[in-house]
Amino acid sequence: MCGIVGITGVPDAVSVLVSGLERLEYRGYDSAGIYVNDQSGQDYLVRRVGRIANLKSALTPAIKGITGIGHTRWATHGVPSETNAHPQYSADERFYLVHNGVIDNFEQLKSEYLADVKFQSQTDTEVIVQLVDRFVVDYEMDTRAAFLKVLHLISDDSSYAFVLMDRQTPDTLYVAKNKSPLLIGIGEDFNMVGSDAVAMLKETHTFMEIQDREVVTVQPEGVVIRDFDGNEMKRDTFRVDMDASAADKGTYPFYMLKEVDEQPVVMRKLVQEYLDDEGIPKIDPKLLAQMKAADRLYIVGAGTSYHAGLIGARLFERLTGISTQVFISSEFAYEQPIMAAKPFFIFLTQSGETADSREVLVNVKKQGWPSLTITNVPKSTLSREASFTLLLHAGPEISVASTKAYTAQVAFQAILAKALGMAMNKENAANFDIKQQLGLVAIGMQAIVDSKDELESIASRYLSQPRNAFYIGRGIDWSVALESALKLKEISYVQAEGFASGELKHGTIALIEDKTPVIGIITQDRTANLTRSNLQEVVSRGASVLTIASKHLSQPDDTIVLPDVDPLLSPLLSVVPAQLLAYYTSLGKGLDVDKPRNLAKSVTVQ
Ligand code: F6R
Repeated sequence: MCGIVGITGVPDAVSVLVSGLERLEYRGYDSAGIYVNDQSGQDYLVRRVGRIANLKSALTPAIKGITGIGHTRWATHGVPSETNAHPQYSADERFYLVHNGVIDNFEQLKSEYLADVKFQSQTDTEVIVQLVDRFVVDYEMDTRAAFLKVLHLISDDSSYAFVLMDRQTPDTLYVAKNKSPLLIGIGEDFNMVGSDAVAMLKETHTFMEIQDREVVTVQPEGVVIRDFDGNEMKRDTFRVDMDASAADKGTYPFYMLKEVDEQPVVMRKLVQEYLDDEGIPKIDPKLLAQMKAADRLYIVGAGTSYHAGLIGARLFERLTGISTQVFISSEFAYEQPIMAAKPFFIFLTQSGETADSREVLVNVKKQGWPSLTITNVPKSTLSREASFTLLLHAGPEISVASTKAYTAQVAFQAILAKALGMAMNKENAANFDIKQQLGLVAIGMQAIVDSKDELESIASRYLSQPRNAFYIGRGIDWSVALESALKLKEISYVQAEGFASGELKHGTIALIEDKTPVIGIITQDRTANLTRSNLQEVVSRGASVLTIASKHLSQPDDTIVLPDVDPLLSPLLSVVPAQLLAYYTSLGKGLDVDKPRNLAKSVTVQ
């Protein structure tokens, strides 16, 4: 979390930094700040608590610069406040630093080297910037050497993306990274740095990767990358052809609504990218060969991606016959189960940056186990580090609450499961007409997103008042219940839980009061009647029951009826009304749908 942007060599660094930060705001919005230097003796530091909008309103035309750094913060060390906002600076106001990550040994560095320094903030970042200053001023090192010395002192477990400025070399950005994302953007007569490509797309489409434990000097005329031993590294550039406007809201009031609406297009895009005219998946045979050799698949992810994995496991087991287990990454990282003899790991991560998932991948690599990252972000950390990577092609997802990336993850796993099943000559896979089904899904999704008015009125009738709400279902419907509840709680702050329908009566039913909303998801023939009887149990206790049911299983009183698709793909439809119910509940409460409190889209701390 936290977003970083820096630029050198442009007449108006302030506006570049602000527009970059606006695109990075999804990474955190506890505070924001910029430092700019006009390279002729004037510099400015502006920091504000809260959103980028607060920072913007504090900027006057007099604040100008050619070089600058900016930061949007998701607080780890120190409460959200102006003094804890970045850039952090040294006591002599010579060095300015923005940081994304956590320095594990900052207390130790502080007591060892800076016991005499009075600190202004509670941040680990201030320790680093004061330490650079100490080595430059007291030990007479040049800035690059001092920065490198500090990087050597930081413990290996720490995570950081740093951009440092020195008032005495105001055209230079000193950059380094370990575990946290950072990319170099290459321009004509300017160069820049940012947490992701989208933050820099207005300025450039040409980028250069920085690897962990590299240190980079960025000046208008060039970029020099060195490893920690001082060896210069050669690095190719790459292009990102995405249109900067793909990350704009257009006429939508919130990104989330735009992203919900884009889901039918994402389904068609996956068909186009991964299926041939006959509907046969086009997947790298080398990947399929490695998956085929596995005796168990392990799907690893966090939050919404974990929920998508729960559905993926069913798809892989049904279409390939390979036993598949799903794990929350932060759990797997510290409590590994007894492993199969030939495991194959699938990492699901929209951002490709989630620290919890990366922790698992690092260990998987150490063990020599093969892995695949399925992500929406090309060149992201997990995409670079796995043995194979496949992209979701969902386009930028800006809203913190994931919608189209989730449905893309589910649909893509169906394509991959079919590909693997066919490679294993499985009849179930051969008979699974994924192309036709994804076509039906796209049409079904369109019908649901076209019924927004109805969903808005259901949200206002049932979900605007209560303290808590429950989604229930069995099997694959339970997996969707978990995701549906997460959507509702994260953006509307209604305490929502997803439950296995049959499990409710084993304790949680005690929470049902008069008018507690309970939403049943009913898409599976084998379990439809059971979930309906569980709903009756809560009706008897006063709950307000709503139902999301597939057409062939529907009854006249059902609240939302979904078009029929293959039951294995029903989550792609049943989740859409839940996304919209969450959206309209949040909107009705006047909340910032895209930026719910305490959250950030890309969670790069463990
Ligand atoms: C919730 C949401 C999160 C993410 C989770 C993992 O709407 O998006 O639960 O799914 O933080 O992120 P990724 O998928 O980027 O690894």
